[in-house]
Amino acid sequence: MRLEHVVRLSAKEKGHLSLQEAAALIRSDRVRVDAQVVSEPSHQVLIPAEEVTLDGVRLDPARAFQRLLLFNKPSGVVCEGASSSERSIFRLLTDHQRHHTLSFFGRLDKDTTGLMLLGTDGGIGALLTDPDSGISKEYWAALSGIRPLHPDAAQRIAAGLELADGSYCLPATLQIVHRPPDPALQTTLPSPPVEMEAAQAVGQPVVCLTLHEGRNHQVKRMLGACDGHVVKLHREAIGPLRLSELRIAQGTARVPNEQELKLILSMLPASRDAKARSELIQRRLRGKGLNQIEIQK
Ligand code: URA
Repeated sequence: MRLEHVVRLSAKEKGHLSLQEAAALIRSDRVRVDAQVVSEPSHQVLIPAEEVTLDGVRLDPARAFQRLLLFNKPSGVVCEGASSSERSIFRLLTDHQRHHTLSFFGRLDKDTTGLMLLGTDGGIGALLTDPDSGISKEYWAALSGIRPLHPDAAQRIAAGLELADGSYCLPATLQIVHRPPDPALQTTLPSPPVEMEAAQAVGQPVVCLTLHEGRNHQVKRMLGACDGHVVKLHREAIGPLRLSELRIAQGTARVPNEQELKLILSMLPASRDAKARSELIQRRLRGKGLNQIEIQK
């Protein structure tokens, strides 16, 4: 995580620092990382392994996460304005959990179930949902058995798929649950979550799709581009956080414990690595039929 973010988020309780204010503090040599003065705001800090101090006082980035919630979204509720709609996800929260600036970090469709992060810090939300952060999201989808998925679906998705509207998806991983399980294929595939049991019981094909970005209806559109029709969709994991291990009843939210908080901190982008960024832009341009030369002209 960039040092300027650590300082901004950790010192926030003292007076809501902007990124510019945090950078100014760092440039004036008042910030140390593991006892060494660091004056470059973009310096990468390994949270929580390295200790950051401001004027000799230890900063605790976990402070910024005081209003952060892990939420197990049920089907039938929508990700929209706090109190605007009867069906808003926020209606499911307790009075204590609700807050007028609480927002969701990454939207799920009304009929999608699964793990969501809610919080009051838009800066954290932006970092967690930025496609450049590369945070993985693991989705499980039950497909209509009527139309078979294209035999090359996994390869097409791994190569980076172009959607019907011409937009381009980053390479992702599609794993198909085989019944009976093929040991050679199942080695890296975790067991399907309970949310897929009903679909499996009636013989609907089940797939696991791991993405590193989050566009509107992305899973449905990607599988649709491979002839699949999603009848049930569930988000099981965000980075290292797995819903089945978090033990949150469906339709409820809770604050993360210290261990989970560390996992969330560890997800924040270590860097906006220039090479990865340029590769991403190049792929998107290729998806639009342009190449680097044309852009440079
Ligand atoms: N992709 C979708 O199609 N829907 C969701 O809710 C999330 C990802």
